[in-house]
Amino acid sequence: MTKQLSSIGVLTSGGDAPGMNAAIRAVVRTCVHYGIKPYGISEGYQGLMEGKMELLNARSVANIINQGGTFLKSARCLEFRTPEGRQQAYDVFKEKGLDALVVIGGDGSFTGAKLFAEEFGVPVIGIPGTIDNDIYGTDFTIGYDTALNTVVEAVDKLRDTATSHNRLFFIEVMGRDAGFIALNTGIGCGAEEILIPEASRGLDHLVNSLERSGRAGKTSSIIIVAEGDKSGGAFELARQVEERLPNYDSKVTVLGHIQRGGSPSCADRVLASRLGVAAVKLLREGQSGVMVGIRNGHVVSTFLSDAISQKQGIDPGLLEVADIVSL
Ligand code: F6P
Repeated sequence: MTKQLSSIGVLTSGGDAPGMNAAIRAVVRTCVHYGIKPYGISEGYQGLMEGKMELLNARSVANIINQGGTFLKSARCLEFRTPEGRQQAYDVFKEKGLDALVVIGGDGSFTGAKLFAEEFGVPVIGIPGTIDNDIYGTDFTIGYDTALNTVVEAVDKLRDTATSHNRLFFIEVMGRDAGFIALNTGIGCGAEEILIPEASRGLDHLVNSLERSGRAGKTSSIIIVAEGDKSGGAFELARQVEERLPNYDSKVTVLGHIQRGGSPSCADRVLASRLGVAAVKLLREGQSGVMVGIRNGHVVSTFLSDAISQKQGIDPGLLEVADIVSL
């Protein structure tokens, strides 16, 4: 049975990701399609608590599918982590006459969404938007594919100069808790070694591998380091390697927030559009407390509690592929 909803609020929360705009657009236009009023809430949960929202229409989201960032802006809101903060948000939610909420963000944002749904009986659906791809319940998060392409483009350029100067480059990519970006871009860029938090192989392994590369005739090397790797980051790793291999001319590049920006890839735009439509449809079906995601090409839903508590593991087979093809 279809649930009668007159208005739905949508917000983006946590670190921004390319494709968030495409997801907002899809939520807004699906609302319009079903005769529901879509409210865009600015600056995440902070904006919800402060009542920063406006009624959108199909034209308000025109020409944003190709834009990075989030036009609603995003924030990490500490107050929403407290019961008082969520109460304030609920008071505003009721006062504005909202019936349901769509939260586009990562696991921190979903923790808030789950509590909000449980404490006040508010229908809430999550859409995974983070470049890190570290959300359980979906094969891909919005923004991940674009970030991969951004990293590949940057590393290809660094490879040119590394080769010209016979240098060893340590390149740090994002991924506070996860190595998806590092592992996949490492393979895509032909990195000699990839260091990720999920599989710490230690300094000895890296040094041995570099020595082997040298013996095999390589004159330059690329090491991709996930920021969450246990080695302490690319600078620290470079320092340790230089101590062991003083003859190497090494450089460090931290790609940083460039990975979070840029026009979303086609894959991210399509993913965001599919998940945005699905989120509103689930609300109309009376569902709440779930995240929409993509599994084996199909849109699926996962309890927010599982999305938060379970870990999206990397494919260990990819590490083997990386080792074999980097000989
Ligand atoms: O969006 C995820 C992420 O990019 C992490 O990989 C990174 O550690 C973090 O966000 C940085 O976030 P912020 O710039 O908001 O502190």
